[in-house]
Amino acid sequence: MKCKNNNLRLDFPVLSEKFQGNGIIYLDSAATSLTPMSVIIKISEYYYKYSSNIHRGSYITSMIVSDLYENTRLDVCRYIGAKNSSDIIFTKGATESINLVASSFVNDQMFMSDEILITIMEHHANIVPWQELCREKGCSLKYIYLNKSTDIDVNNLLLKITKKTKFISLSHVSNVLGTVNPIRFLSLYARIKKKIIMVDGSQAISHIKVNISSIDPDFYVFSGHKCYGPTGIGVLYIKENLIDMMKPYQTGGGGVLSVNFKNTDFADAPQKFEVGTPNISGVIGFKESIQYINRAGLGTISSFERSVMLYTENMLSNIKSVTTINFPRKRIGIFPLKIGNIHPHDVSTILDREGIAVRGGFLCAEPLLNYLRTGPVTRVSLSFYNNNDEIDKLKNSLEKLIRIFAYDNKRSK
Ligand code: ALA
Repeated sequence: MKCKNNNLRLDFPVLSEKFQGNGIIYLDSAATSLTPMSVIIKISEYYYKYSSNIHRGSYITSMIVSDLYENTRLDVCRYIGAKNSSDIIFTKGATESINLVASSFVNDQMFMSDEILITIMEHHANIVPWQELCREKGCSLKYIYLNKSTDIDVNNLLLKITKKTKFISLSHVSNVLGTVNPIRFLSLYARIKKKIIMVDGSQAISHIKVNISSIDPDFYVFSGHKCYGPTGIGVLYIKENLIDMMKPYQTGGGGVLSVNFKNTDFADAPQKFEVGTPNISGVIGFKESIQYINRAGLGTISSFERSVMLYTENMLSNIKSVTTINFPRKRIGIFPLKIGNIHPHDVSTILDREGIAVRGGFLCAEPLLNYLRTGPVTRVSLSFYNNNDEIDKLKNSLEKLIRIFAYDNKRSK
């Protein structure tokens, strides 16, 4: 099949760089998406044009960057359809956003024998903080299981929400299975049951339209580097009515109204949660990545992604020794694979020699892969800058790899 002409690929300089004579075929966007040139320019523009701190100077460059920083908050607010920009907190990534919620909010809500509910498909970032918190507070962490199609088993979820449940946290889209969870329904159900719910949108944010006003979660988190932005910048959306109940996550310079020898008057959100000098160039680069998505259009992005996802699905199902382990009803282009009995680290190392970047291992979701009894897997994850030609090259490389290992196996018998 010929691929549609996707000129947007040209915006990503890494795709035309040569490593040991080859261009890279980047199939690891679930780990980190690539960065378009316009974002790279904005990041460096900060350093060569107006390098200065924000909210602290009354000179021109400081005022320019303070405005850019705060305007990014407005852009993020609009991008995710939130009501107030003061409900948007900048963090260093989704992991820090989750830890902030654990420490500044959930920790104070939990008492002995209360329960936190998450799904079995969570990334470690949405498991470990809750394990630690439950251990400290004498609470329990409960898991919602999946059905045969690797979708959340909604009946299991309805059963697991009990009087003891104090907090629910789940991913919008799984980083292993690509499953798009029915977040709007689940959030509505949590609301009816008067439960607090957080959504990890890290894998959703660059692929599907996120509308906070319609999902109506209490917290929503994601990272900039998953949506064509810089690393080290993340977002925490907090529903307005919870903000005043939350204590600062870290304290220090900034985030205060006044400090005397004994006490401190803290500022309101968002400043209350953003102390110290933040990742200013990251926020400015992130502004451009949102504008980039807006210019390209999420509709165009999803349609390129869907087309290459279907092509990949078809290709993988035609290679005998390749088994896909996910069958979600609603999904994005993420394929966790078993390739014969070849270890995923061998697969990713050999594919790397062919110029193909994939991730192999437990994908920061060890409980899920143990639950599915697959062990480590090789993951192919797509974005709109991938095309069918790249998938054809992946096919050739996989077939070659399978032939080599089959020959090696025969020889060693
Ligand atoms: N969350 C990233 C991944 O799934 C790191 O690979």
